[in-house]
Amino acid sequence: MPLKKTFLILLCTSLIWSCTQQQTGTDRETEKKISRLISQMTLEEKMGQMNQISASNMGVDQRLAEAIKNGQVGSILNEVDPARVNAYQKIAVEESRLGIPLIVGRDVIHGFKTIFPVPLGMAATFNPAVVEQGARIAAREATASGVRWTFSPMLDIARDPRWGRIAEGFGEDTYLTSVMGEAMVKGYQGTDPADPASMAACVKHFAGYGAAEGGRDYNSTFIPERLLRNVYLPPFQKALDAGALSLMTSFNDNNGVPSTGNTFLLRNVLRDEWNFTGFVVSDWSSVTEMIPHGFAKDPAHAAYLAVKAGVDMDMMSFAYINHLPELVKEGDIPEKLLNEAVRNILRVKFRLGLFENPYVDENLHKDVFYAPDHLELAKQTATESVVMLKNDGTLPLDETRIKTLLITGPMADAPHDQLGTWVFDGEENATITPLKAIRDAHGKYIRILYEPALNHSRDNDPSGIRKAVQAARRADAVLVFTGEESILSGEAHCLANLDLQEGQSRLIEALQAVGKPVVTVVMAGRPLTIQKETRWSNALLYAFHPGTMGGPALADLIFGHEVPSGKLPVTFPLSSGQIPLYYNHNRTGRPFQGNETLLKDIPPKAGQTSLGNTSFYLDLGADPLFPFGYGLSYSSFAYTNITLDKVTYGKDEVIELNFDLTNTGKYTATEIAQLYICDITGSVTRPVRELKFFERITLNPGESRTVNWTLPVNELAFRDLNMDLTVEPGQFELWVAGDSVSGEPVLFEVH
Ligand code: NOJ
Repeated sequence: MPLKKTFLILLCTSLIWSCTQQQTGTDRETEKKISRLISQMTLEEKMGQMNQISASNMGVDQRLAEAIKNGQVGSILNEVDPARVNAYQKIAVEESRLGIPLIVGRDVIHGFKTIFPVPLGMAATFNPAVVEQGARIAAREATASGVRWTFSPMLDIARDPRWGRIAEGFGEDTYLTSVMGEAMVKGYQGTDPADPASMAACVKHFAGYGAAEGGRDYNSTFIPERLLRNVYLPPFQKALDAGALSLMTSFNDNNGVPSTGNTFLLRNVLRDEWNFTGFVVSDWSSVTEMIPHGFAKDPAHAAYLAVKAGVDMDMMSFAYINHLPELVKEGDIPEKLLNEAVRNILRVKFRLGLFENPYVDENLHKDVFYAPDHLELAKQTATESVVMLKNDGTLPLDETRIKTLLITGPMADAPHDQLGTWVFDGEENATITPLKAIRDAHGKYIRILYEPALNHSRDNDPSGIRKAVQAARRADAVLVFTGEESILSGEAHCLANLDLQEGQSRLIEALQAVGKPVVTVVMAGRPLTIQKETRWSNALLYAFHPGTMGGPALADLIFGHEVPSGKLPVTFPLSSGQIPLYYNHNRTGRPFQGNETLLKDIPPKAGQTSLGNTSFYLDLGADPLFPFGYGLSYSSFAYTNITLDKVTYGKDEVIELNFDLTNTGKYTATEIAQLYICDITGSVTRPVRELKFFERITLNPGESRTVNWTLPVNELAFRDLNMDLTVEPGQFELWVAGDSVSGEPVLFEVH
């Protein structure tokens, strides 16, 4: 072969190799090292790598230490003392036979020490840049404790606010969740996962967990494949494309198959279609929970089903370590399957640089925890996460005119509860509440009265309410901080009734009767049904549990040092009887229009009739209290001249669109402009609207800007009647607006 040709072939081969390597996250040298290690491992050591055990986080546990030494543990979770992490790691690296380092995991969900708003609040910022920076900060703080793996982001689409875990995700929309998930993965893993300040992301819970029937956690889901692929799976694919190194299975069974034993999800979709090369961990004991599911008959059977389906690591069910050896020895499971699982796990350990750099600098945390720039970003994120749902002009409060201000309500000074769910490491005493922030910033020139009125969000004792009412009479304005304690949302904390707890509702009603301006702030982990309370309030700010810096963020918004810009990442129903209620529902044959509530109009003994002819409730209509994407500002915005460059597009083309956005109010403010489309006719029915893009745009009062956006036509693709990902020719509507129900549609066609 001529030299030139050989050279060309070599060049092409190496190019192909490096492309594949980039796509799959594997490289030849590492794979060789892994093969070498696997060839030296006993069956028991392989099981060890596939076994994850929780540490006590209270001292070095001698039994755990012994197990690590014997090669029976590949990962620990819940140990955040850097000295103890190093002690366990030293045993793994220096005393176990093969010296394979541990990977140390933790639920770092919305910050480690510096706590950011719950993910639902992060989603309300519609600002992936702050979300990515926040995840970077979480990684910097967690890795200073020795944690190199977080069980985050949670990418479960949630269309049911009764489900407590709605707080942990980015809401009901697939596109918004995908954008935020990608941002978090990039933040956690940084540009190089081997950087000691990076940690591996774990996308969870795969899949469909947020669709739990009735909004009850751990309950079954029934998601047909088209819906699964159009709505629930895309955020996972996007996060894995962004390089997420691990994935966790979910607790639910979908259509009868528990996720931890679901070969279709874990092999066909994840490995074959998406080429995932990281590892899959079960959720906490979800391997053996296949027994109560009625899917596995005993722990050995559960281990068999999970390994076959593609679960590489068993979190805390001990089924792998106890039963895989016998299953392999008896020929039920080929050792090759175990080798694959171990390979996936070791690959991530190599990617994290754990072999070269297994230990944490035990003094690092002193400079890192609650660093000033961390607190600053937490404040910015909290500020941008607050959604103003009503304002009759009461806000912002004029600090020069208010002489006496009443601060009341159980969430005004509740540092534990404003942090929100899934906070293991953030501390109350580092948390600034609204009461403290307002006193610090305004206490010198405003007389601040404080009456908590209720001890906590479920307190119904009326005596405190009476005191608050008396104080309100002496005040020029009232700030009432309500909501739910952090423990009322999150894992296993679901609610059937989403009304504000009764005592708080009575408090707001009593305060408005005094006749002073009432500003209600709700801090919660989910949308609550607050129709009455909105009516009773002159202004209402909704803060999904806002974290460490929630107080200063709210203080700045209330007094106009910041202008609200958050938008709802989830629909707010009028009543939980309307659930599921989400903006991107399919078109029905009798679409709902207007807001009919016909219950009272129906005459007695009325004959059978298809009243109103639309899909609605007699007693509640079908509109929500607030739609997805909604949020007010102290300013106002006008969208004009929305134009597309063409009327007809080919499938490979890009839509170029322009519009003018004008700040028509008096404040410099940020609008979150949103792009929605509707595919009018399809081989299957399509949603009334779908979010396809958004941008935060800041304008001065009176300023107008022509905004240019592009939308590739292939973004209109969906799973068609044959389950193929297709853009179908036909007519589409497009909206550019400030929420999911406003704006006039512009028509275009795809041929
Ligand atoms: C159970 C939860 O479902 C999961 O999200 C979490 O990461 C694990 N426990 C570990 O704590």
